[in-house]
Amino acid sequence: MVSFDIAKAKVETLTKAINDHNYYYYVLDDPKISDFDYDSLFQELLTLEAEFPELKAIDSPTQRVGGKPNSSFKQVTHKTPMLSLGNAFYEGDLEAFNKRVCGELDVKQVEYLAEPKFDGLAVTIRYEEGHLVLAATRGDGSVGEDVTHNIKTINSIPLKIDNSLSTGAIEVRGEVFMQKNDFFTLNKKQSEMNEKTFANPRNAAAGTLRQLDPAIAASRPLRFFAYSITFENNKSIKSQDEMYTLLKDLRLPTTSHAKKILGVEGMMNFYNEINALRPSLPFDIDGVVYKVNEIKYQDDLGFVSRAPRWAIAHKFPAEEAESEIINIEVQVGRTGSITPVARLKPVQVGGAIVTNATLHNEDELKRKDIHIGDYVTVRRAGDVVPEVVKVIKEKRPKDVRSYEMPENCPSCSHKLAKEEGEAVLRCTNGVLCPAQKKQGLMHFVSRKAMDIDGLGEKIIDQLLDEKLIQGFSDIYKLKKDQLVKLERFAEKSADNLIASISKSKRTTLPRLIYALGIRNVGEATALELALHFGDFEKLKSASVESFIEVRDIGPTVAISIYNYFKQESNINELRKLLECDINWPSIEANVKNKELEGLIFVLTGGLPTLKRDEAKQLILSSGGKVSGSVSKRTNYLVAGEDAGSKLEAAKSLDIKILSESDLLNMLKKDQN
Ligand code: IVH
Repeated sequence: MVSFDIAKAKVETLTKAINDHNYYYYVLDDPKISDFDYDSLFQELLTLEAEFPELKAIDSPTQRVGGKPNSSFKQVTHKTPMLSLGNAFYEGDLEAFNKRVCGELDVKQVEYLAEPKFDGLAVTIRYEEGHLVLAATRGDGSVGEDVTHNIKTINSIPLKIDNSLSTGAIEVRGEVFMQKNDFFTLNKKQSEMNEKTFANPRNAAAGTLRQLDPAIAASRPLRFFAYSITFENNKSIKSQDEMYTLLKDLRLPTTSHAKKILGVEGMMNFYNEINALRPSLPFDIDGVVYKVNEIKYQDDLGFVSRAPRWAIAHKFPAEEAESEIINIEVQVGRTGSITPVARLKPVQVGGAIVTNATLHNEDELKRKDIHIGDYVTVRRAGDVVPEVVKVIKEKRPKDVRSYEMPENCPSCSHKLAKEEGEAVLRCTNGVLCPAQKKQGLMHFVSRKAMDIDGLGEKIIDQLLDEKLIQGFSDIYKLKKDQLVKLERFAEKSADNLIASISKSKRTTLPRLIYALGIRNVGEATALELALHFGDFEKLKSASVESFIEVRDIGPTVAISIYNYFKQESNINELRKLLECDINWPSIEANVKNKELEGLIFVLTGGLPTLKRDEAKQLILSSGGKVSGSVSKRTNYLVAGEDAGSKLEAAKSLDIKILSESDLLNMLKKDQN
């Protein structure tokens, strides 16, 4: 047995060598030694660590698949929100974007950094003192899920980085994806083992990232490209381009296709170049992204809702393919809408196998003259439901059959009807219709609504079949012993489901309003309703006119909401639901409450009690505005723990800095 000191030195040399070879192989794609030699180094390190467990560092290359499977995903509140991007499809969209950018910056021309738009999932990775300490998904942009255990299995992501560049924490953001060849191999393996296959590499990457057991993630190779970095100690980065240099210096994987360009002409050239490369790339991309290169300009341009005003995604057109309609059926939606759906001969469209495509409604079916047996063009754009675009008339077989929409609901046989001026047929039987009831429950538990993890379609079917649930409130009355009796449920899965049901009781008012599934009330309208009325009592008794007073609500939506709260069964269900201890931070209705009118706030750092979106709601509900970046127009910066560059920026602009309690005092609210 070697002495401890010799072993220690050897472990250090081996760790460095393995990390270097990982970098050559996975990041530079330029291996310097054979797989056999690499495996020998790895084996040697494993042996030494087994002999001297005290030498096993948490970020040793042998620890990528360390640890036991997690029992659930922890939530992570992002220090700065993870944003999405505005989309452009045509040159005209780019012209408008470029014109606005140049106009606002008051410059003739601006430099952009152009890069591919990877079709995967955004993650943020946090390094503290050089060590990878946390990795989280984007989630809803404010709160994501802790996926550190799976991110550590990605060999190209360093577990330790050179921290001489920064004394504070570093956050790296980028895209996790699966390469096309790895996706095909994985699907082959899955089908051989009779396991679920994935529709496309993106879904496979998402499914892998959501594994609780890192050993599973490690067996399905994920990749990563970093596209941004922030330093919490306010290291100033001047450009997007410099970010790339820093990322490369830190040995993080980045795309080799980023390029500085000028104006719309530069954008179009880049787009065409990348589009031509697209089939030969080993991974899927769904467009390109242009980002104003200078960070100073980015700060001047700021943000609008969830997207930066200094960047835009230029998307590739949707992909199309040809298939054959085997049958036409109708589906009943959450609000009773009847949608005809074409059952297709399976066809690959843009990397996914499509077997169903929407025909939208009866008018569309007639306008496109679609028959059963027709050959059709099918289109799929990103995550959108595939649709039938047109019939290929030259190929129409003689024996095609026409399709008539049913007169009665396929789920409950209730007579279908069309409302005046509407193209959609509806079943008006509400929750008495089993299909609507099920869709309503699926919506209620979905991520953007009550977010009950682990309550998917199959379990809802089981619960409905066993009559364990009827309305929303019944979900909160479920008991473990009822669940364990169900097929495919074990002690552990029952415990997990009960825990996530219980966790969902703490919610926000906008989520709860959205969850009710009121016709025409999406996430944005639910937020406006919550801010305007502040509680259910006011919402329930409001008139159509008072709904129209709410920002962005017109007469049709106002009538839908009014009708919802006039229906006794809805009010009863809501009452039962509220008796289940569902709770949320209070929002003061802004009908009279305007103390922050005209004031612009910026939030930074972690606040002691309020979540970022709770603080934002409080400000909005009192008439204030919340901006993503500090500028001369900012009135207050609300700073919490670990506030970084925004705090410095605010100080240099002499902007008043508030703590959470200062903010609450301004709102004349208690901290509870
Ligand atoms: S930048 C504020 N760059 O696209 C900037 N995003 O639609 C936001 N994405 O959630 C991100 N490739 O998942 C950026 N080169 C790239 C990207 C990229 C893919 C994804 C990312 C983001 C989504 C926004």
